Amino acid sequence: MQLFICENKQQLGERAAGILATQIQKKPDSVLGLATGSSPVETYRCLVGMCRAGTLSFRDVVTYNLDEYVGLDAAHEQSYAYFMRTHLFEHVDIDPANIHIPNGTAPDAHAECTRYTEALAGVEGGLDIQLLGVGLNGHIGFNEPDDVFTPDTHVVTLDDSTIEANARFFASPDDVPRYAITMGVRPIMYAKQVLVLLSGAAKAPILRDALRGPVTPEVPASLLQLHPRVTLVVDREAASLL
Ligand code: GLP
Repeated sequence: MQLFICENKQQLGERAAGILATQIQKKPDSVLGLATGSSPVETYRCLVGMCRAGTLSFRDVVTYNLDEYVGLDAAHEQSYAYFMRTHLFEHVDIDPANIHIPNGTAPDAHAECTRYTEALAGVEGGLDIQLLGVGLNGHIGFNEPDDVFTPDTHVVTLDDSTIEANARFFASPDDVPRYAITMGVRPIMYAKQVLVLLSGAAKAPILRDALRGPVTPEVPASLLQLHPRVTLVVDREAASLL
């Protein structure tokens, strides 16, 4: 496991974007697993800057996002499809056909999970790199604390703590969807590299538990202890309890 401790969010974003850009430059048709949330915002901003400067191209890049809220369509401002469009996709030269995000308004959410699982299974050799944030409760994607790890894409009931944490993006906690579709842990663990971003003092306890505690589905991010190639990019506050 590689650990980079950064001074601030900007440096964190630059470091993470540098890792992703190197991957894309080395293999222009890289398959990336992408994340939402506040952690990767600066990373995406840096990648957009590189594309605008002409030093990076997404022309042949393929992406798979981790998760999506059930019930929010791609036009909803809090959907992850909207987040990805506005933070990254509409600013880079990616082929829209290469973008994959679970459809939160599919008429049959379970069939949508099967479709997404099969699409991921078709990625030969696994994702080249999986970008991850970690929730305050240790969730990765929307794999919430549970008794078991779920390997494939599934519908998850969001934890009360997740609803509370994400309520800041909605008018009220009642507006936060109760369900989401999330990639399971298999494609994450089969990814050739996992790039994990955490910032802020609030994430310090969960980072400590995930790295130093037992591997348990009660702390989904602890599973990353078993991944052979994890790169952690964190700020000093998040690293303060390590
Ligand atoms: C969200 C997302 C995750 C994200 C995590 C952390 O609920 N489903 O994919 O990584 O929580 O979010 P943040 O980066 O805003 O702390």
